[in-house]
Amino acid sequence: MADMITLEVMRYRPEQETEPTFQGYEVPFHADWVVLDALNYIKDRLDGSLSYRWSCRMGVCGSCGMMVNGEPQLTCATFLSQYLPGPIRVEPLRYFPIMRDLVIDMTDFMGKLQSVKPWIIPGEEKPLSQGEYLQTPEELDVYKQFSMCINCMLCYAACPVYGLDPQFIGPAAIALAQRYNMDSRDHGTSQRLDMLSQHEGIWGCTFVGECSKVCPKEVDPAGAIQQYKLTATKEWFKAFLMPWGAK
Ligand code: SF4
Ligand code: FES
Repeated sequence: MADMITLEVMRYRPEQETEPTFQGYEVPFHADWVVLDALNYIKDRLDGSLSYRWSCRMGVCGSCGMMVNGEPQLTCATFLSQYLPGPIRVEPLRYFPIMRDLVIDMTDFMGKLQSVKPWIIPGEEKPLSQGEYLQTPEELDVYKQFSMCINCMLCYAACPVYGLDPQFIGPAAIALAQRYNMDSRDHGTSQRLDMLSQHEGIWGCTFVGECSKVCPKEVDPAGAIQQYKLTATKEWFKAFLMPWGAK
């Protein structure tokens, strides 16, 4: 078994360089090390100038997404042993602007996320004295899968439509919109539809399905988008047949 493995890490320091380059690092191979452990070894022992994001090291915070040998991965859940004998090429997530080394700029995504109103839009407000808005376990099950998203952006890095058209609102934002549309306490479907029924919304998706394959939380954003197309069609018919009372 190898005792060392090579990581080829993309470096980009915008104040020094006009374009990214790759730098090779030899790190110890341990069967229980993930790619993030190797990056931390580089940062701690070999080159403190390397920049990347991480936090939880347990697949929860969503901050450690990178391209590993060309595939979007959570680096805290991707073992070095999958890539023996190496080398392992580590790059920032595809299709996003690079801020520095492996750190991407998520500003565009944050704006898209906000535009789909990812919060409960109540119907009629009731006085506090009438208690909480209760929900049965069955009602929770309807949208629970879509609520598991950790905003890791792997699905955007896997989506060829987003790669071609950065205006496309993208898999995770649409899945989150559908999470609220399917919540029994929410009445905001028609408000979200204004944003999502544009060409860059749900209709931009050509159902390649790569987003669902790479999702580490089995959110199935591709499924959410197809569901949303049905929702949008129903809402459109409602508005067409009952223009006075569709909302
Ligand atoms: S849908 Fe999945 S891949 Fe996309 S951001 Fe959410 S957790 Fe990550
Ligand atoms: S470090 Fe939090 S998901 Fe990987």
